[in-house]
Amino acid sequence: MHFSTAVTALATVLTLVTQGSSYVIDVYDSDNCSGGSREVNVWDNTCATWMGGFKSYKPKVYGGPHQKAYFFVPGNCGDLTTSFGGHWADGGDGDFQAGRCMNFGSNRVVNAASSYRG
Ligand SMILES: *[C@@H]1O[C@H](CO)[C@@H](O)[C@H](O)[C@H]1NC(C)=O
Repeated sequence: MHFSTAVTALATVLTLVTQGSSYVIDVYDSDNCSGGSREVNVWDNTCATWMGGFKSYKPKVYGGPHQKAYFFVPGNCGDLTTSFGGHWADGGDGDFQAGRCMNFGSNRVVNAASSYRG
């Protein structure tokens, strides 16, 4: 086995061990889950910004136990003082439910989504 292949294999194993699961949402350019959309996979204990701004989202897959979903505007990842949401992302929340459209309201464009332990 080439060294680089071994490193890649090891990195893959570490990723599987340290990041067991993620929540998956579709994010939308407009309110009410309309307009352009893309699927975003937010791993437990991480924050994602690559998808760019969005106004609404729809959960598809729940994250790991005791994970909460936070959304950030106008700040970015890590700034919980300007976050929205805080819903349990593990399925144990009445609002963060698969197939249910979630709006941020007030024409807000959210720019980051995280999954942190609640
Ligand atoms: C979203 O739905 C609400 C309630 O039906 C409606 O008042 C609002 O205009 C809709 N927003 C858009 C952008 O379609």
